[in-house]
Amino acid sequence: MLLEIGSLKVQPGLALAPMAGISNHPFRVLAKEQGCRLVYSEMISARGLLNNSGRSSSLLYFTDQERPIGFQLFGSNPLIMATAAQNLEQAGADFIDINMGCPTRKITGNREGGALMLDPGLCSEILQSVVNAVSCPVTVKLRMGWDAGNINVTDIARRAEAAGIRAVTVHGRTVKQGYSGKADWEIIRQVKETLSIPVIGNGDVDSPQSAEAMFAFCGCDGVMIGRAARGNPWIFGATLAWLREGRLPDPPSTDQIVKMVLKHFSLLSELKGEPAAAREMRRHAPWYLKGLPGAAAIRQQLVQIKSFEETETILRDFTASANQQ
Ligand SMILES: Cc1cc2nc3c(=O)[nH]c(=O)nc-3n(C[C@H](O)[C@H](O)[C@H](O)COP(=O)(O)O)c2cc1C
Repeated sequence: MLLEIGSLKVQPGLALAPMAGISNHPFRVLAKEQGCRLVYSEMISARGLLNNSGRSSSLLYFTDQERPIGFQLFGSNPLIMATAAQNLEQAGADFIDINMGCPTRKITGNREGGALMLDPGLCSEILQSVVNAVSCPVTVKLRMGWDAGNINVTDIARRAEAAGIRAVTVHGRTVKQGYSGKADWEIIRQVKETLSIPVIGNGDVDSPQSAEAMFAFCGCDGVMIGRAARGNPWIFGATLAWLREGRLPDPPSTDQIVKMVLKHFSLLSELKGEPAAAREMRRHAPWYLKGLPGAAAIRQQLVQIKSFEETETILRDFTASANQQ
């Protein structure tokens, strides 16, 4: 379970997936504090970065406790990708990850993200160009292929290895599938068997037991968790305990969950200001509280929160009534 990305070593290879709108500095810190070993930025547009757009540069903020951190780039022009990667290396990236899996139409419509898998020659060019441009390790995140008729992840992963890519992440779905259906772990296993460089498996890991199952079934060097970490950074600590000692820690109490929501809010406020933090927490807060008795009743309030104080009041009342039961 040792994951080596060039000279970077993480043990075990337990990663938080890059997630646009989610895996920013505050959430990465919370995941790291809970035991996550490897984090990635949200995807960053190579073109946007070079045009110095405010949005792209705000994505670059991180602190040393997040290291090792990968900055993820998307784009389709090899030269622009290479220059943007140099900027990310200067900004402190420990490694650069190239997005060749995003299914969002806005991205694939520009032949970026997952659409690149339809053009293996261009994939090779981009990967080679970025590897040549930076001295830090470069990795790539792939899907199985564009659609069921175009499953070519093994070919592209081989090209990546030939280009000097140091690790490949495989999400076991096609681009066309988006997030529907079940992730195919068999293809991850095949990619692992084909390559000499490390492979990180991804798709549908939603518990410590399923992380262990992915390591065992795919023989992969790392496991990446995305959606199951939303509102649940504890999944990383629980997975570490499960992998190392075969035990599961107690789930977080309501008090601990509420504290985590407020900490997440505070960190976001420091980064983006309170109004923007409140808008973002409208999505996170319900994820944190999901499944707790009484959570459904305050959902409508949570999805409209406007300030830290208001959130604190809603959650204080929620905790008080939970403690009475
Ligand atoms: C809201 C959201 C945003 C995402 N953003 C990115 C992204 O920026 N870059 C990327 O490579 N994958 C992105 N993904 C895909 C995840 O990294 C991951 O591959 C996918 O969610 C499957 O893993 P899971 O089953 O553990 O969630 C995103 C997924 C979600 C749900």
